[in-house]
Amino acid sequence: MTILFTRAWEDDRLDLELLSSPGQEVLVVAAAGDAALALAACGSRVVAVDTNPDQLALVRLKLAAAGVLDDASLYRWFEVGADPSAPSVYRQLVRPLLPEDAAVFWDGHIEAVVGGFHTHSGVGRPFARLGRFARLICPGLTKLIETAPDPSFQSASWRKHVAPRLFGPLTHAAMRHTRLLAPLAPNRAELDRMRTGGWSHGLVDRIDGVVANGLIRRHPWWRPVFAGRPADPGDGAAWLDGGRGPLDLTLMQVDLAAALASRPRASLAAASLSNVPDWLDARGIDLLAAAAAGALQPGGRLLVRRVVRPESDAFVRAGLIRDPVSDSLVARERTALYEAVDLYRKPEN
Ligand SMILES: C[S@@+](CC[C@H](N)C(=O)[O-])C[C@H]1O[C@@H](n2cnc3c(N)ncnc32)[C@H](O)[C@@H]1O
Repeated sequence: MTILFTRAWEDDRLDLELLSSPGQEVLVVAAAGDAALALAACGSRVVAVDTNPDQLALVRLKLAAAGVLDDASLYRWFEVGADPSAPSVYRQLVRPLLPEDAAVFWDGHIEAVVGGFHTHSGVGRPFARLGRFARLICPGLTKLIETAPDPSFQSASWRKHVAPRLFGPLTHAAMRHTRLLAPLAPNRAELDRMRTGGWSHGLVDRIDGVVANGLIRRHPWWRPVFAGRPADPGDGAAWLDGGRGPLDLTLMQVDLAAALASRPRASLAAASLSNVPDWLDARGIDLLAAAAAGALQPGGRLLVRRVVRPESDAFVRAGLIRDPVSDSLVARERTALYEAVDLYRKPEN
């Protein structure tokens, strides 16, 4: 299975807050589909694109399942990532709703949802390994996460007992000079960016901020990694919260820049580029920025994540305005992975 992302490693609730456009068209990168589904669940007309057909098969599974499974089953399949009854429920209820190519894909892969969808494939595996290692060298870690009375106690314990053991000079050297990060960064350009500059030190600072700002046992990414337990219902992917309306979500296997360039000019209310620019060279980023600027309607919003903040801003060069709210977004992006989380606006005419 070449699904690299079984769940978004981007804070889908930020996408929802910043890009929600009920009744209007929004274009996003599909990846694991969580931002696309969250936006569609709140009434946006969503187009999600990806060059990886297996990621699109995953989003098709989530979309079909959302139409027939109850909230508890959706939570087991996609938040816990484990449900022994998944294959039989799939064959009976979900498969009939899938297009043929996605059905053929899941006929061969639905067993993955039986016992560890997030931990046995793609970037979920190395994150799970990181968590097991952290619990080995910090034996009180799960107890700290599950019983911390408040973020300030949690933060003080994290700084004293966990961070120094987990993120010492050796870890930074390994992140920079070895291929330690390669399983987490499946694209070569992205990996090179993470290994240069001070990304690993910034990561520790950002995790420190996350630990100080909220309880990790309410956290959809770091509770599963560090405590080995899934987020509770209501704390996971936003589209799993329930109360969804009908989902208007179109999936396309196409390059992101090509998809944006082929939209009618000024037609999109909003778009999220995920961190696709991290996967591109400078020319590719310029083409992507120009295509995005052309596709957005006046006042339209564009969300872009980057693992490393670039020295020069291709999206501003393409004529977009960086919204001042961007200054707060890195701290609010709870995955802690990104040095830059920027919201741009297309100028009004
Ligand atoms: C850039 S990756 C990052 C994933 C993200 N950080 C996450 O964990 O949710 C997201 C998706 O972008 C897709 N992708 C990468 N470059 C693309 C491109 N030029 N056009 C369309 N999709 C692309 C990949 O196949 C992947 O599924």
